[in-house]
Amino acid sequence: MKPLAQLCMFLLFSTVFALATLVPANLQCRCLFGDACWPIATQFSDLASQVSLPLIQPIPPASPCYRSLNSSTNCNDVHLNWADGNWRANQSGAMQSTNFETFIWPNGTIDACYFNTSLNVPCTQGSVPIIGVNAQTPSDVQAAVKFASAHNLRLIVKNTGHDYLGRSTAKDSFLIWIHNMKNITFHETFVPTGAPPTEVYNKTLTLGAGVQWYEAYDAAHSHNVVIVGGLSAGGSVGSSGGWFQGGGHSALSPSFGLGVDNVLELTVVTSTGEHLTANSHIHSDLFWALRGGGGGTYGIVTSVTYRTHPSTPITATFLSTTIISNVTGPSPILTKLFTELVRVTPNLSDSGWGGYTLFYPGTPGTSLALQILYITPNLNVSNSVANSSIQSFYDYAQQLATNSSMETGGLLNITAAVIIELDSFYAWETQYFRSSGQVGGNIELGSRLLPRNVIENDYEKVAKMLLPLPGLNYYLVAGGAVSRVNSSSTGLNPAWRKALVHTVFGGTWQEGASAQEIMQVGNTIKAGIANLHALAPDSGAYFNEASKFEPDPLNTFFGSHYKALKDIKLKYDPYELFIVSKGVGSEDWDEDLNCKV
Ligand SMILES: Cc1cc2nc3c(=O)[nH]c(=O)nc-3n(C[C@H](O)[C@H](O)[C@H](O)COP(=O)(O)OP(=O)(O)OC[C@H]3O[C@@H](n4cnc5c(N)ncnc54)[C@H](O)[C@@H]3O)c2cc1C
Ligand SMILES: *[C@@H]1O[C@H](CO)[C@@H](O)[C@H](O)[C@H]1NC(C)=O
Ligand SMILES: *[C@@H]1O[C@H](CO)[C@@H](O)[C@H](O)[C@H]1NC(C)=O
Ligand SMILES: *[C@@H]1O[C@H](CO)[C@@H](O)[C@H](O)[C@H]1NC(C)=O
Ligand SMILES: *[C@@H]1O[C@H](CO)[C@@H](O)[C@H](O)[C@H]1NC(C)=O
Ligand SMILES: *[C@@H]1O[C@H](CO)[C@@H](O)[C@H](O)[C@H]1NC(C)=O
Ligand SMILES: *[C@@H]1O[C@H](CO)[C@@H](O)[C@H](O)[C@H]1NC(C)=O
Ligand SMILES: *[C@@H]1O[C@H](CO)[C@@H](O)[C@H](O)[C@H]1NC(C)=O
Ligand SMILES: *[C@@H]1O[C@H](CO)[C@@H](O)[C@H](O)[C@H]1NC(C)=O
Ligand SMILES: *[C@@H]1O[C@H](CO)[C@@H](O)[C@H](O)[C@H]1NC(C)=O
Ligand SMILES: *[C@@H]1O[C@H](CO)[C@@H](O)[C@H](O)[C@H]1NC(C)=O
Ligand SMILES: *[C@@H]1O[C@H](CO)[C@@H](O)[C@H](O)[C@H]1NC(C)=O
Ligand SMILES: *[C@@H]1O[C@H](CO)[C@@H](O)[C@H](O)[C@H]1NC(C)=O
Repeated sequence: MKPLAQLCMFLLFSTVFALATLVPANLQCRCLFGDACWPIATQFSDLASQVSLPLIQPIPPASPCYRSLNSSTNCNDVHLNWADGNWRANQSGAMQSTNFETFIWPNGTIDACYFNTSLNVPCTQGSVPIIGVNAQTPSDVQAAVKFASAHNLRLIVKNTGHDYLGRSTAKDSFLIWIHNMKNITFHETFVPTGAPPTEVYNKTLTLGAGVQWYEAYDAAHSHNVVIVGGLSAGGSVGSSGGWFQGGGHSALSPSFGLGVDNVLELTVVTSTGEHLTANSHIHSDLFWALRGGGGGTYGIVTSVTYRTHPSTPITATFLSTTIISNVTGPSPILTKLFTELVRVTPNLSDSGWGGYTLFYPGTPGTSLALQILYITPNLNVSNSVANSSIQSFYDYAQQLATNSSMETGGLLNITAAVIIELDSFYAWETQYFRSSGQVGGNIELGSRLLPRNVIENDYEKVAKMLLPLPGLNYYLVAGGAVSRVNSSSTGLNPAWRKALVHTVFGGTWQEGASAQEIMQVGNTIKAGIANLHALAPDSGAYFNEASKFEPDPLNTFFGSHYKALKDIKLKYDPYELFIVSKGVGSEDWDEDLNCKV
């Protein structure tokens, strides 16, 4: 289980007297909870005396339902909020996707704390960290990083816990939780550190590491500006953690670029405990790498300064359909509708649209159908081009619906096809994304960035290949402004700059499923990934929404930037304290990321 734990212990003892000044270099294995090298109580109290808030001991979110009889109130909370992303983000021990809270042993035994107590499985800690620092300030982060380095702990940096590869949690680890670093500062004018005084940016926002998108949107709105950010139920994704470090897409990206394209300056604590400022003038290599090189890899970002854009009215469109068909899987009528959507995607992008196409299994009696949620800011004189591009697609859909019948492949019903003008992006975001209830399940994703030329060359093949994928989403979040940025200007995977669409699919399972059943879901994902590779062999995938089953993950997630990203990582993280699953440098570690290979 931990073959080299003894070596770890020996090396740590041999350096223990030098700990105050020297960090042990390149130990073979991390020190885990339960190992003899794990810090003792007095060492933890010493750490506690250096930070603002008491140390935390994270617990799995369902654990209140397992305490003896007297926890009904708490367990009620668990029942009410299980699927609420903000309730989860508020807890140091919760992930958004519950499977990452569990731990699967090699023999198939699963350690978990299930929501469903009727399964009669005892509640265990699983992959939830053991103890950690609830950081409020950069100096808290510095103290915690130095402690983790000195004791060679398996370190976890957690913000909201949205990560789709569970990178913000690990069994027997030490946690630095940055969720409560909620500072927000608006700058009427902003000159990056080290920049000439003439390099002035108007109306920027500096967001503390724990600020979530709903809070950033509220702040931007109060200053009548727009900020490019993620869209999810409750706005729960973090604005300044993994989201932008992996790229950061938005419905606004075709207009204003990705998250990485909007960052002006960062502050970051590196593994030596230094607190650095990084921008295009100072530590510019670190600045380059942090914009796309992945969360949890270069250090702990303590704040991000984003550019903003003027708030304008926007045009929003919403299409909702139902389909009745006797065909299992994608019906012929859905195939026709989606093929047309893929055909016009380049046109929609050129007309300024960005947003989400979601597929949902119908209620009993109906079958798989699609929904569109797109916007375009009214930046350019009139949005008549945008209106007519989407209108011509809706005209097609309407004809398809009129012609449709069970005999010809299914009945299409268009339940809504609206184009509306709204006052602002904020009006749209608050109308469509502030309700809760999107998370709290078990999920594995697969994905691919679809290049514009692949879509243009063979839209029929694209539609045919995508539709059978389970849990399909088709996000129009690239192209436009994303493609206009030079791929060498950030560390981000160059595949993003040629892409038009980021397509995601996934599989789910019920609590209590066996390790073997979960592996079956994995096999479906693998098969889907193979098809997507065949469709777009030269492209890549989005680090933040992708699969651990990618056959060549480093190349797929970072492309030709990998070597440079690795060099910069080793320069700023010589102790390799920051290692995450399939991240830069992860190839030097075993599957659990606990021992070097
Ligand atoms: C419901 C849902 C909706 C989503 N919507 C979008 C979307 O609209 N657009 C989009 O691009 N993506 C979206 N994502 C994916 C999202 O970008 C990733 O899950 C991302 O990793 C979340 O980052 P986080 O910091 O909020 O989460 P966490 O899980 O806490 O962290 C993710 C990774 O970043 C590291 N990390 C976190 N904070 C820091 C920090 N301050 N410094 C260094 N490392 C850090 C962690 O160690 C971990 O490796 C969504 C995910 C979910 C579950
Ligand atoms: C239940 O817990 C509360 C708060 O911890 C305590 O005050 C109360 O005495 C407990 N009740 C019982 C029956 O144990
Ligand atoms: C999360 O915590 C914040 C701050 O304490 C609180 O305002 C908010 O209501 C909490 N959200 C949920 C869903 O519990
Ligand atoms: C599987 O391995 C774990 C950890 O070693 C052990 O606790 C558990 O009892 C094992 N289960 C079975 C069925 O062998
Ligand atoms: C909980 O588990 C029990 C026992 O397997 C099962 O019958 C029940 O359907 C489950 N409940 C939910 C909500 O999944
Ligand atoms: C929050 O921002 C203010 C400036 O707006 C600054 O004075 C303060 O130190 C910051 N607090 C933290 C904890 O970073
Ligand atoms: C910033 O604002 C000033 C004063 O309003 C204006 O002159 C300048 O053009 C603006 N700069 C940019 C880059 O928009
Ligand atoms: C607005 O139109 C101008 C001129 O055609 C173009 O250069 C610019 O990219 C457009 N802006 C957006 C956000 O589409
Ligand atoms: C686009 O459509 C919306 C909604 O119908 C309408 O309010 C707006 O005026 C249209 N814009 C143009 C330029 O036609
Ligand atoms: C693109 O949109 C414009 C404006 O509606 C339309 O005239 C043109 O035919 C469209 N092209 C395609 C390929 O759909
Ligand atoms: C609908 O049927 C009419 C008449 O047969 C045909 O001209 C038209 O192409 C059909 N439209 C679609 C979208 O199938
Ligand atoms: C579906 O229904 C149509 C018309 O009722 C029928 O011709 C066709 O054979 C059915 N297909 C299946 C797979 O049942
Ligand atoms: C289509 O939608 C309309 C209203 O949106 C509804 O009255 C009708 O029953 C639906 N038909 C089918 C076949 O779903």
